[in-house]
Amino acid sequence: MATQANEIALSTDLASMVVPQHLSVSTSPTTTFQSPPSSFAGSHLTRATTAPKHLKPFDTADIKILLLENVNQSGKDILTGQGYQVEALKTSLPEDQLIEKIRDVHVIGIRSKTKLTEKVLREAKNLIVIGCFCIGTNQVDLDYAAKHGIAVFNSPFANSRSVAELVIAEIIVLARQLGDRSNELHRGTWNKVSARCWEIRGKTLGIIGYGHIGSQLSVLAEAMGMQVIYYDVVNLMALGTARQVPTLKDLLNAADFVTCHVPELPETRNMIGTPQFEQMKNGSYLINASRGTVVDIPALINASRNGIIAGAALDVYPNEPGGNGDYFNNSLNSWGEDLRSLKNIILSPHIGGSTEEAQHAIGVEVSEALVRYINSGVTIGAVNFPEVNLRSLTQDEANHARVIYIHHNVPGVLRKVNEILGDHNVDKQITDNKGDVAYLMADISDVQTSDLKEISDNLEALSCKCQIVSHFHKLILAAARILTRVLY
Ligand SMILES: NC(=O)c1ccc[n+]([C@@H]2O[C@H](COP(=O)([O-])OP(=O)(O)OC[C@H]3O[C@@H](n4cnc5c(N)ncnc54)[C@H](O)[C@@H]3O)[C@@H](O)[C@H]2O)c1
Repeated sequence: MATQANEIALSTDLASMVVPQHLSVSTSPTTTFQSPPSSFAGSHLTRATTAPKHLKPFDTADIKILLLENVNQSGKDILTGQGYQVEALKTSLPEDQLIEKIRDVHVIGIRSKTKLTEKVLREAKNLIVIGCFCIGTNQVDLDYAAKHGIAVFNSPFANSRSVAELVIAEIIVLARQLGDRSNELHRGTWNKVSARCWEIRGKTLGIIGYGHIGSQLSVLAEAMGMQVIYYDVVNLMALGTARQVPTLKDLLNAADFVTCHVPELPETRNMIGTPQFEQMKNGSYLINASRGTVVDIPALINASRNGIIAGAALDVYPNEPGGNGDYFNNSLNSWGEDLRSLKNIILSPHIGGSTEEAQHAIGVEVSEALVRYINSGVTIGAVNFPEVNLRSLTQDEANHARVIYIHHNVPGVLRKVNEILGDHNVDKQITDNKGDVAYLMADISDVQTSDLKEISDNLEALSCKCQIVSHFHKLILAAARILTRVLY
């Protein structure tokens, strides 16, 4: 990014930026109950005694943002409210048009359809940050982005409540065989039955994975009069009167309804298979709204046919179609038609988190993360950078600037950076790394606006070298510096 002296004169819009000083980053209950990451300094963020100073980037006269795929209005409003130049398109773009547009922007916001591959990112010379307004980030080459100083943010937990509510609905629908009754009546058949239809009050819900969704569900289920037990690899504080059980077997032995809320990991692959169905109570129910690989579906088909389970609800599958249409058949998954033919099986097309509220929350969470990153360099919530934060500069700290130096994690860099910063008072400094990429943030005082260009240029020119693998897979010597940003 060019650092021209005349860029110091910033637009009045930028000068009036308002940085949200609250952190609305949703962390896992696991992280909440245990120690925060070592670089996390979030608790300082709200302790400033005077109003926080609104920082602005030194080397970009204005921030240009491209939003694709109809990002929720909540997200657009936050970004335009900052005075950034925002172009929002309803669709994704073909690769050639994407490359054309990405050359010009500092920030891009996407959902799941836009592929930010190395080929695309190589053209993104001004890009400093990517916002994935969705849960997953596998549409982005995260490694390439990190090595080129581009942070990536997403919103992994904004739809937890939506999933938990869907699961509550499914528990009742399964207990009352409501899916089958509804299908029968759609076909004209009146079939009024009460045999093997149950209230859920007093029944035991077994939650596998007591994270964001599992713990929300726990509270809702207790409010419906259920007893809740859960199994998790981590010891987690129970909400309400829920009780953690030591093994998966204990849970399966005791639960009337078993529901899976674990991540997709090698350990969770086919976590519920034939041996686990055999450990479940006869006539119990299984729900999976986590990931398609967690349940062995042929084993589920057998368990249903043998009457071990009285019903199941699935929202996720090992193979899912790329778009809407009549694709849910044996060519997608070899057992597709067997599954569809079972009684009391609710099949939904991965809609657990698909609500207006979740989209709104994703818009807010990702936009706020982008604003924090652009204006203050805070990386809390980034998926490809170390999570780094410093308490805000305050308005009575007039001659202060924040220096961000993203570099390859090689020896000697810190010493050289501090030689450059050493002419000023380094008030606070933090550095952390994720793999090969290190992120340094320092607040310096006694710095005049006229010093900023020199600091920026000196950091850009740092002579530390490191060995990296080139595009042609050769080891080459390169500058350790990846990206310098100065905010003041
Ligand atoms: N259906 C949907 O639309 C939808 C929407 C959002 C999330 N999800 C999926 O739901 C799942 C849970 O999401 P979350 O936000 O609650 O995740 P989370 O990270 O907050 O919680 C996951 C919990 O599972 C636990 N866990 C990990 N491995 C385990 C194991 N082997 N055995 C037992 N517990 C284990 C973790 O300790 C953690 O407490 C994820 O797979 C996620 O991808 C689905």
